[in-house]
Amino acid sequence: MKNTKKIKQQIKDEVYNFNHIGSWFFDEHLLGVEENANFLLENLPEANKEIVVLGVWLHDLQRIRGIKGDHQKVGAQEAEKVLNEYGYKQDVIEKVKKMILCHSCEGVMPKTLEEKILASADAMSHYYNDFYIRIATLGQRNLEEFREWAMEKLERDYNKKIAFAFAKEKIKSNHDILVNLFNMK
Ligand SMILES: [Fe+2]
Ligand SMILES: [Fe+2]
Repeated sequence: MKNTKKIKQQIKDEVYNFNHIGSWFFDEHLLGVEENANFLLENLPEANKEIVVLGVWLHDLQRIRGIKGDHQKVGAQEAEKVLNEYGYKQDVIEKVKKMILCHSCEGVMPKTLEEKILASADAMSHYYNDFYIRIATLGQRNLEEFREWAMEKLERDYNKKIAFAFAKEKIKSNHDILVNLFNMK
């Protein structure tokens, strides 16, 4: 089995076994990011597919492993550990870490094509499945706080994280529906 397949299985096992978020995080979020990354890669064949795929599986390790601290920085450190365990070369490790360090578009923005693909695919995944319902029902925010959080996230996803016009076009109608929904009183 290829290393990327083994890593995908390892991450699935981690999400399922350390089930503090719920298996939906793999089944809906990570598989959703994979699907959107594949859609972007089909349209951007010059991108390095292996780097993007590694980013798909490893970008949210801070959340998956439930480690306190900065989402992007801790995630990059944990990704480095996994990549070392699988014997990846230093240049691959550096590229994946850099990609994770900007995937939320908070602070550093994505610059390379692969970084833009991961941030875009991550944001696009929020427009499918039950992402907002899942977060709303975690019960961490009251309705007003949730509305505010959701509107801020939608704005960042659409305007900052999705880097390609053709990708924005694909999720535009879902974006408009969600914005109207969260604006409803
Ligand atoms: Fe993330
Ligand atoms: Fe993510």
